[in-house]
Amino acid sequence: GKVCLAYSGGLDTSTILRWLIDSGYEVVCFLADVGQEEDWDQVRSKAAKIGALKMVITDLRKEFVEELCFRAVQCNAQYEGTYLLGTSLARPVIARAQMKVAAEEGCQYVSHGCTGKGNDQVRFELAFLTIDPKIKVIAPWRMKEFFERFQGRNDLLDYAAKSGIPVTSTKAKPYSMDDNIAHCSYESGQLEDPSQPPPTDMWTRTDDPITAPNTPQDIAIQFEKGIPVKLTADGKDITDSLDLFIALNAIGKKHGVGRIDIVENRFIGIKSRGCYDSPAMTILRAAHLDLEGLVLDGKVRSLRDQFVTHAWSEILYNGLYFSPEREFVENSVIFSQKRVNGEVRLRLYKGNTFITGRSSETEKLYSEEESSMDSLIDFSPTDTSGFININAIRLKKYGAQKLEEGQGLGA
Ligand code: ARG
Ligand code: SIN
Repeated sequence: GKVCLAYSGGLDTSTILRWLIDSGYEVVCFLADVGQEEDWDQVRSKAAKIGALKMVITDLRKEFVEELCFRAVQCNAQYEGTYLLGTSLARPVIARAQMKVAAEEGCQYVSHGCTGKGNDQVRFELAFLTIDPKIKVIAPWRMKEFFERFQGRNDLLDYAAKSGIPVTSTKAKPYSMDDNIAHCSYESGQLEDPSQPPPTDMWTRTDDPITAPNTPQDIAIQFEKGIPVKLTADGKDITDSLDLFIALNAIGKKHGVGRIDIVENRFIGIKSRGCYDSPAMTILRAAHLDLEGLVLDGKVRSLRDQFVTHAWSEILYNGLYFSPEREFVENSVIFSQKRVNGEVRLRLYKGNTFITGRSSETEKLYSEEESSMDSLIDFSPTDTSGFININAIRLKKYGAQKLEEGQGLGA
């Protein structure tokens, strides 16, 4: 049989590659470029040395930014009030591209190096099975013959030495990382004690906010239908989606914007401590949220906050991008953003993003005249007496009942 393996060049997937070949499979390796730091040539030559039939690398950065990251911005996506979903957002584009390679290369199987305790195995495999219901998945870390043989890093290194797998001499990090253009994630190993702060030299996508520049930086972001279309920074305008995202990452990095450290609930029910730095996503979310204050209808906003933001975020976290519920919820996200046009100005300073102004040329829901304390045009204060009286009907009854029960003054 023929397998398409998600191959990173690391020790785990190198072992899986060799083990699949030893087990009689032909293996086509696939690596997605989602904006991670990578020595691509080294991955290529490693795959060839270990015996891969072929190594396919696909640049998915633009579709990742436009289809997933910007959609997340449009709905202010966030998991458990904190996590901006960097890894979850990348999985659908990676899985889809891997399935395309599998089809082109005539593979009956796809394989990956995700562990049996994580979210990623669920995300990849649900995507694989939705895209091609006939595909067969090989998940070595859930197969007895694999995990009993490779119980720790030493077993992997032994096997590497015996089977001619080149081991890159760089010392293994004391935690696991997943890097892409939206964020870098850090989990497990040394981070497993949630009472301890992460090591100061861990972060890769943000500089330390404490030693960040003492001079703040002002930028402006323009949105159309809730999508960032222009960044103005350092005296330049950037309109290309990928360039804009990359530039915003660089600016955010410099000012230490976007670090988080949480204990989250994985889909399979395990609690896990994770650290993430996502500069561009943090800035875009802050700007977009602010613009909505100016241009989005209040009731639409309330419903969207209660149902849509939470639903879309959880769908993505749980690996259900390719699902009817994602399409359903996403259509309401897009609908809600029809009038989210305008510009937000921000000031970045030592890990913070401060909003310094917002404006919209096309949207007129906000009126200075109307909100002014000094103007009564088109507004009659006596109307509000009725508004309060009607709203109080129900509450007066509730209050009277409380008094009867001897619980006055709201107690
Ligand atoms: N906990 C995060 C999530 O589930 C990050 C996962 C990181 N994945 C990885 N293979 N290191 O989205
Ligand atoms: C893994 O277990 O492979 C990484 C962490 C996760 O998927 O949640």
